[in-house]
Amino acid sequence: MSEETPAPRKPPLSRVQVVEVGPRDGLQNEPTALSVDVRVAFVEALLDAGLSVVEAGAFVSPKWVPQMAGSAEVLRRVQREGVRLPVLVPNRKGYEAAREAGATEIAVFTAASESFNKKNINASIDESFARFAEFVPDAKAAGLRVRGYVSTCFGCPYEGTVDARKAVEVCERLFAQVGCDEISVGDTIGVGVPTQVHEVVGRLSRVVPIDRIAVHFHDTRGTALANVLAALGEGVRIVDSSAGGTGGCPYAPGAAGNLATEDLVYMLHGMGIETGIDLGKLVVASRGLQTHLGRELPGRYLKAAP
Ligand code: HMG
Ligand code: MG
Repeated sequence: MSEETPAPRKPPLSRVQVVEVGPRDGLQNEPTALSVDVRVAFVEALLDAGLSVVEAGAFVSPKWVPQMAGSAEVLRRVQREGVRLPVLVPNRKGYEAAREAGATEIAVFTAASESFNKKNINASIDESFARFAEFVPDAKAAGLRVRGYVSTCFGCPYEGTVDARKAVEVCERLFAQVGCDEISVGDTIGVGVPTQVHEVVGRLSRVVPIDRIAVHFHDTRGTALANVLAALGEGVRIVDSSAGGTGGCPYAPGAAGNLATEDLVYMLHGMGIETGIDLGKLVVASRGLQTHLGRELPGRYLKAAP
């Protein structure tokens, strides 16, 4: 499709699907690895607060990310009707373990910059696609939903600037070639600004349907909510965030927390946009986590809430 393709119609801005990534992205970079019991209680508190999509863990190498060890048990214990519980999967080994644990949705991940991908998963971008080809077709045939993350779409900790066209190319490939149901456009190190979001998401929405595009902002430099507004303006209605604003990638130096779910929900509700989330119960979930992590979490609403 050429870049001259007219912009797609934007869906009404009455509801946003929040994808809670706290139990995975939020905890994977914490110095304290939390026990399975604590992680189960955290996921359950999030589900009780009305979050309907909660990323429950990661089936990655425990040598690379020890914080996510035990994700199979977490996933088995938090199953309930009517919610989606995606788990992160880097390769066929992770896929098989996730299936055995009862996963019905997986999330694969690659990046828009080679150096980050190499550090994060020990593979080039092309090699990551070759790995996906080893299990995503089976996952789709088995009826699993497959989410696709593209990291470093707005900047890379090793390479600096990332060309918007490169980010869009990797996202489109993940959608069209790999067959992902949804593409999450990631600002892994929180360097993006709204004009970049308009550029990347605007271009992407000409080649991937707008209702299949999610945004994933880290709030390292305080631009995450502004970037969400820019994405909403482009028609995006799926936003990733993390309870309390925990988060960061162990292979992205300087990456601070994700956009805090409370901050996102506060803004959306204030704008008259539904999420199905009970903000008061969400605060309780994040405060419970705060106690276990032994530190104050960065989310702004969390600090301001009674
Ligand atoms: P490798 O060392 O190249 O893999 O790592 P390998 O195939 O050579 O295997 C090495 C060892 O790992 C072997 O064990 C394998 O069995 C084992 P050994 O023989 O040494 O005992 N292994 C596994 N174990 C458990 N589960 C698996 C698995 N695969 C191999 N699935 C690998 C390659 C991909 C495994 C590794 O690099 C890895 O696990 N990386 C994950 C890194 C990660 O989780 N990063 C954070 C998530 S991404 C992110 O945060 C960004 C995101 O939030 C969006 C954004 O913000 O941009 C999504
Ligand atoms: Mg992330």
